[in-house]
Amino acid sequence: MKVLIATEKPFAAVAVDGMRKVIEEAGAELVLLEKYTDKQALLDAVADVDGLIIRSDKVDGEVLDAGKNLKVVVRAGAGYDNVDLAAATAHDVCVQNTPGQNSNAVAELVFGLAVMMCRNMYNGTSGTELKDKTLGIQAFGQVGRNVARIARGFEMNISALDPYCPDNVMEDAGVSPVHSVEQLYRENKVVSIHIPATPETKGSIGYDLIASMPKGGLLINTARKEVIDEEGLIKALEERQDLKYAADVAPERAMEIKERFGDRVFFTPKKMGAQTSEANINAGLAAARQVIAFLTTGEARFKVNK
Ligand code: 3PG
Repeated sequence: MKVLIATEKPFAAVAVDGMRKVIEEAGAELVLLEKYTDKQALLDAVADVDGLIIRSDKVDGEVLDAGKNLKVVVRAGAGYDNVDLAAATAHDVCVQNTPGQNSNAVAELVFGLAVMMCRNMYNGTSGTELKDKTLGIQAFGQVGRNVARIARGFEMNISALDPYCPDNVMEDAGVSPVHSVEQLYRENKVVSIHIPATPETKGSIGYDLIASMPKGGLLINTARKEVIDEEGLIKALEERQDLKYAADVAPERAMEIKERFGDRVFFTPKKMGAQTSEANINAGLAAARQVIAFLTTGEARFKVNK
């Protein structure tokens, strides 16, 4: 039994040590492919493994074709838009994620970005505070709930939009439910995006929503760059000199946007939300355990494909 950890953006070493232990204690062999720069390296490494652990690494039909023995792919993290689920199902490969394991790390980054933007990138000028400001959380999943928990400490007025979450779950967390995306953007000075990238959500946040934000609005995107309509973002930033945008990770037109809007925008160089030792350990160990459980008992609690 062989398990490949393929991470273009590696886990912290301490997480890999723990994953190795889980895999080897189950009598399996660990194959490690880190910081690879071309797809061929992944195609070669996956050729004879039974299980694959990835992060944002792309797993498409070609990778699944190359993995002749592959039975399970675990995305150590939440979003699995990097995996071709239909192709995995066609190859009889079980795809899983590790929900919640890195959500605190992402939520903490939201506030790291928020404070930095409110303090004008720490450039010495007078900024603003988060206390008593309105915060709109777009999607009340694991990350959204952690954002709400931390926002309570900042004494923000919190609301959230999530058609899949009952109002009482939000209310119990001290969050006011809102029921339209227009209301969320119109009423909140800070909006934090936590929706997945799906055919429905891609490009769904554009000019109308962004330009409707209150004066001094700050949009924070620690979800996926694809959910933003970049044309609309640029138009809104151009028209509204008071708006700011911070994202993990950079938009397609990052250079141009940075040049045009300077310190009103900020982008991490690589997706950093889940890039902490703690999140790597949580998500990495969960992924290792899930791969082993699937390969030894067929357990697939977090299966995301059909
Ligand atoms: C996730 O979906 O879990 C986060 O975006 C983290 O992605 P990463 O593992 O590539 O950092």
